[in-house]
Amino acid sequence: MTTFSKDFIWGAATSGPQTEGNFHKQHQNVFDYWFETEPTAFDNGVGPDTASDFYHDYEADLALMSQAGIKALRTSIQWTRLIDDFETASLNADGVAYYNHVIDAMIANHITPYINLHHFDLPVELYDRYGGWTSKHVVELFVKFAEQCFKLFGDRVDNWFTFNEPKVVVDGQYLYGWHYPQIVDGPKAVQVAYNMNLASAKVIAKFRECCPQSEKRIGIILNLTPAYPATADPADVAAADFAEAWSNEMYLQPAVLGHFPAKLVATLTADGVLWDATSEELTLIAENTVDYLGVNYYQPLRVQRPDISPKSLQPWMPDIYFKEYQMPGRIMNVDRGWEIYPEAMTDIANNMRENYGNIPWFISENGMGVAGEERFMDADGVVQDDYRIDFMKDHLQALKRGIDAGSNCIGYFVWTAIDCWSWNHAYHNRYGLIRDDIHTQEKTLKKSAAWFKQLSESNSFED
Ligand code: NOJ
Repeated sequence: MTTFSKDFIWGAATSGPQTEGNFHKQHQNVFDYWFETEPTAFDNGVGPDTASDFYHDYEADLALMSQAGIKALRTSIQWTRLIDDFETASLNADGVAYYNHVIDAMIANHITPYINLHHFDLPVELYDRYGGWTSKHVVELFVKFAEQCFKLFGDRVDNWFTFNEPKVVVDGQYLYGWHYPQIVDGPKAVQVAYNMNLASAKVIAKFRECCPQSEKRIGIILNLTPAYPATADPADVAAADFAEAWSNEMYLQPAVLGHFPAKLVATLTADGVLWDATSEELTLIAENTVDYLGVNYYQPLRVQRPDISPKSLQPWMPDIYFKEYQMPGRIMNVDRGWEIYPEAMTDIANNMRENYGNIPWFISENGMGVAGEERFMDADGVVQDDYRIDFMKDHLQALKRGIDAGSNCIGYFVWTAIDCWSWNHAYHNRYGLIRDDIHTQEKTLKKSAAWFKQLSESNSFED
């Protein structure tokens, strides 16, 4: 048996833009705009318009989640739904009513709300007008939006997050073209990373003013990809050190410790690409660290020395310091090519304990995406997803080893509750404990939902 403490939180994670559908939404985010202008960039030409229709189905969906043993739900409020005018943060009445209903329905279903303020869904107008996260004015507008959320929902929501996976915005929008506007510009990426860290700290400062009660907490959700060197050769080890700093510590250290990684700052300074920061901003970052941390974990980073000579890339790209590769011969997540490596859960837990003051943290996403899941449906239409149960067991066992060594991990949130729209991959890979038939919006519990319920009720599972 693997057993967790009685107060361990068993939850699920999702996001507004991936579930709600765009019904009655005032503004477009960057993905809405990208889909409108280039639908072929999306798997099967499926965009976010309907998603899993949480907008209309939230009551039934939450009741199903409750049946799957989900006791906490992390989702997000969409800036583009709540706000009418971004400059003044004036409210959209429909948006306010909708999120009030959703939060009340979560509570009525005994599902604790965990609310995130940004899940890749920058309003496209703010990109067009100001250059999105490259702009410090956008940082200020985000703080205004956050303040509205705290004032409107802070009476019922204790658990908040500033961002989900800022690294994916930096890498996706400014380095590797996974997200609109698909810019390839290292120095801009560096500034965006800084601005998002700054925005997070400013939102935390505002939160402390608006929600000073001791039970209220705010954090950030980071996708941590521990970087492992290909060999013990110093060139590979140095590459992994840089990758660790670039991918993980550039977000973790300011969020938890209040400062940026010194070696990375020295490298960026020497290369002439360090972000533009003022000493007031750095003080604000130092003074406004998180109360707790959400960690999304899917796959590790396998790193070797770069095969391009330093400084050969113009403009600057972080790729001059490391190269990612795929570990041959390990089981891969279907279609995404993501390596399955549960052992990293123990390493993350130890890292939190040893280097981050043993801060309270939890797994805010972990799960298995599988293409063509209808193959595994039995005669009654139930997806027999034993592979997903095995995936969760392996990861939870590795997590438990870190907890037994003293790491302050307080919960596990599976990605995701109900199959949802996954950006450019749309509905290709299914992650839910609950299946969504996207043609009828019929939602049915998979085998893993029954397993999860048993887990959340007993805080344990048979190995
Ligand atoms: C992380 C992201 O937060 C989420 O939006 C995404 O769908 C999952 N990973 C699965 O790729």
